[in-house]
This record gives sequence, structure tokens and C-alpha cells, in this order.
Amino acid sequence: MHVLVSGGAGYIGSHTVLALIRAGHSVVVVDDFSNSKAAVVGRLEALAGQQIPVQAFDLTDRDKTDRLFDTEHVDAVIHFAGFKAVGESVAKPLTYYTNNLDTTFSLLRAMERHGTPKLVFSSSATVYGPRSVLPYREDGEEPIEAVNPYGRSKVMLEHVLTDVAAAAPALKVALLRYFNPVGAHPSGMIGEDPGGIPNNLVPYIAQVAVGRREKLSVFGGDYDTPDGTCLRDYIHVEDLAEGHVAALEYLTTATEPARAFNLGTGHGTSVLEMVHAFERAAGRPIPYEIVDRRPGDLPVSYADVSRAAAELGWRATRSVDDMCVDAWRWQSQNPEGYPDA
Ligand code: UD1
Repeated sequence: MHVLVSGGAGYIGSHTVLALIRAGHSVVVVDDFSNSKAAVVGRLEALAGQQIPVQAFDLTDRDKTDRLFDTEHVDAVIHFAGFKAVGESVAKPLTYYTNNLDTTFSLLRAMERHGTPKLVFSSSATVYGPRSVLPYREDGEEPIEAVNPYGRSKVMLEHVLTDVAAAAPALKVALLRYFNPVGAHPSGMIGEDPGGIPNNLVPYIAQVAVGRREKLSVFGGDYDTPDGTCLRDYIHVEDLAEGHVAALEYLTTATEPARAFNLGTGHGTSVLEMVHAFERAAGRPIPYEIVDRRPGDLPVSYADVSRAAAELGWRATRSVDDMCVDAWRWQSQNPEGYPDA
């Protein structure tokens, strides 16, 4: 298939571009580089051993999006492009809603006009709210909900895509609910490169390990969990990337217009377990301090992964130690992330 990968220069998008090429698909990347660096493209081309076409524009521009579909025959779209920082979404809700919804509307209109039949969408485990029952199932009794504008944009888009697919007999959509993606390509050449102070746990630990930050603040040590810190379902980004390839192939024979899939491992790992796994990977201590809880954090989050196993034929295979070894290889080879030029 010829696959348009929106946000293909980003963290999950870049790993998925390589997984698609490994599986024999071809890609065209669209990215506005608002949260990624141009240097990723050369690294992807070196790893793929081929040129990767990249179009640098903002997908909220409907004319440019349409023109791309006029010039390329697109069999499927994998839509990663979107803003994703929870705290920033609370401060700038309109920016988040506008960007995350308009990029999707623009793609959907172009897909409708050109009869593009398949869409894989980046959703998030954040659609499981405080009332959802563990382990989170795609068909749980509780409606999907979220507690911040970023998460609500994902909930809204799941509804939009479900409605649009229901009305378009030729369109099939996979809604992929990512748990906590971490790790990097085993080459250490591509990985997660957050701008500013990392919001997420593993990039923060990695920056402590490499000496960019003094110590980790562990948000809460008094949760009702085995060691008092929160449990999350961390998934290796390479497993996640392969999950996208499986979802794309599933869409060829899908019968439901839109279907949600959890992409996780099904296991919870605590913050302190992750700290210790990273210490083993890096061979050095990670200084940390237990501080107050972070507002909005759920104590425990992990997936029921049976639907993805049964219907996509996909399961995560990499361990937390693999995640930390690969995250450390990336961080130690690229202490400041990607170069600017
Ligand atoms: C967060 C977002 C979620 C988003 C996901 C993307 C919140 C409340 N949730 O999820 O909407 O989809 O990222 O991956 O922001 N932790 C520390 N110290 C740190 C950073 C994190 O102790 O410096 C802890 C957190 O309290 C949490 C765990 O590590 O228990 C994982 O945190 P994080 O990586 O931010 O992921 P989520 O909170 O699961």
C-alpha cells in the first residue's frame, strides 16, 4: 500500500514509517515540523536505505492537503499529526481543539473526495477515564471520556471518525488507543526528543541519566499500589509501530466501519520499577525524590489486549528492560536529541 503518514517525523510516526517500509509498503510523510526536527528525515532514509518523500506543511491547510491527494495515489492514511502535551492543552484549549480537529477534518475531506478507503488514527488510553474498569477494554460499559482538552480532542475525534465511517460504506477506520509508548529504534538513531522539560516519565529519567537534569521527581508515593507509585502499561515504540502495520492490514478485510484497539502489553509497571529498570540499562543510579501527586493522574492504568491479539494478530513482545536499553542507547548517543540543522 502507498501510505500517507501524517506526523511521520514525530516520535511514534518515525518508528512507524520504518515498520511500514520493512513490511513492504511505501510512504509519503506529511509533517509541519512543529514538534519534530528535520534531521529525523536523513536518519530515516539511512535506516530504510531509500529516499522518503516528505511534504512539509500544516494539514489544517485544506487546499494543500487536497493538492497532495491530487498528485499522489494514497491507499491509506495513518494519522499521527496532533498536539499532545496535556498541561499545554489546559492552557491553550482552543489551539489544541483547532489543530487536532482541523487536521483530521482536512484529511477526511480529501479522503472522501479521492475515495481513500483506510484510516488508522492515533488515539490514546487517555479516553479511559476515572470510571473505567481495569483492565481497560474497548467495549467496557463506561462511555469514553477524558479530563483535559488534549484527551477530549481524542474522545471527540473517535466519535467523529465513527460517525463518518458509518456514513461512508467504502471507508474503514482503526482507532488505536496507545498506552505509554517508550523506547527507541534499536539502532539508537531515532527516538523521542521532547522540547523543553519532558512531561513524560521515561524521557525525564533518560535526561537525568545523561546528566541533563539533576533528579527525577516521582509524583506521589502514597498510592494504593504495591510500592505506592502509579502503575502504567508501558509499550515499546517498536511494538507500537508494528501494531500500526497490523491495523493497516486488518482494514483490508474489516467489516465494522470503525473499530477501537488497545495497543499495550496488558501489564502495569510502577514508576519505581521503571526507575530501577533504567538504572540497570544505563549502569548508573537515577537520583529521585518522592514529591506530591500530579493532579489528574490515575493510580493504575493497563490494557486488556485480547482484542488486538484476536483481530489484528498482534501482540507486544518487548520487555520493560528492552524499552530502557533502547531508550538509553538513543539518549546516550544523542544527549541533546536531534541536531537543529
Ligand atoms: C500522560 C498523560 C496522558 C497522555 C500520555 C502520553 C497526564 C495526566 N496524562 O500519561 O494523557 O496520553 O502521557 O504518553 O499527563 N511521573 C513521575 N515523574 C515525572 C513524570 C511522570 O513520577 O517527571 C509519573 C506519573 O505520575 C505517572 C507515570 O510517571 O504515574 C507516567 O507518567 P507519564 O509518562 O506522564 O504518562 P501518563 O501519566 O500515563
